[in-house]
Amino acid sequence: MKPTLAFDVYGTLIDTHGLVSKIRKTAGDKAEEFSRIWRQKQLEYSFRRGLMQNYATFAVCTRNALDYTCDFCKVSFTVEQKEELLESYRTLPAFSDVEKSLEGLKASGFRIYAFSNGSSEAVEALLSAAGIRKHLLDVVSVDDLKSFKPNPAVYSHFLNKSGASGSSAWLISGNPFDVIGAVSAGMRAVWVKRSPEAIFDPWGIEPTLVVSSLAELDESISAYLVVKGIGDC
Ligand code: 2OP
Repeated sequence: MKPTLAFDVYGTLIDTHGLVSKIRKTAGDKAEEFSRIWRQKQLEYSFRRGLMQNYATFAVCTRNALDYTCDFCKVSFTVEQKEELLESYRTLPAFSDVEKSLEGLKASGFRIYAFSNGSSEAVEALLSAAGIRKHLLDVVSVDDLKSFKPNPAVYSHFLNKSGASGSSAWLISGNPFDVIGAVSAGMRAVWVKRSPEAIFDPWGIEPTLVVSSLAELDESISAYLVVKGIGDC
């Protein structure tokens, strides 16, 4: 059997900076910084809520992070504009390499899942709007556990839901903290390093593989399995 692939959603399948042109209308040349800080704070809030065991959905982290970023960047969105941005966050675009790569991986026999901090409802809507839900077997959400990545329990939850073992399950993520979380929890993991400038956290826990595009996944994983002499899983 081919390996099971757990695709991270925000930042891997879906471009979290897909609203920059919308943000630019109000924030002008601060738009890129605004988008970056919004994303950083959203993740920080999820980490903190996980540690505090004070769970609220990822959508709440996104909303609270938007308020913080408006204050930090001194950008005054109206209440309506904020609601519009949050609504648009539910239909962020997929990266350009996603559709074709998922199609190819599915045709090669990989078992493909989405695995996300987002609630099932939000992720289902997001992937459907991006036209890629049809390539995935299922959506696994941390919301089932009321915690967030990189709590090891959420990676175990993915293994339970997908019926895969740690060594036959690969996390595919553009987020270094997610890759480190998955490897630390016993999975294999691919870091999707879309930008040559991206930096991996120097913790001594390395990704199993690094690719610059999802288009390289099939070949890279297959070659790794051959080299390791572990057949298809
Ligand atoms: C996700 O779980 C980490 O935001 C990322 O979709």
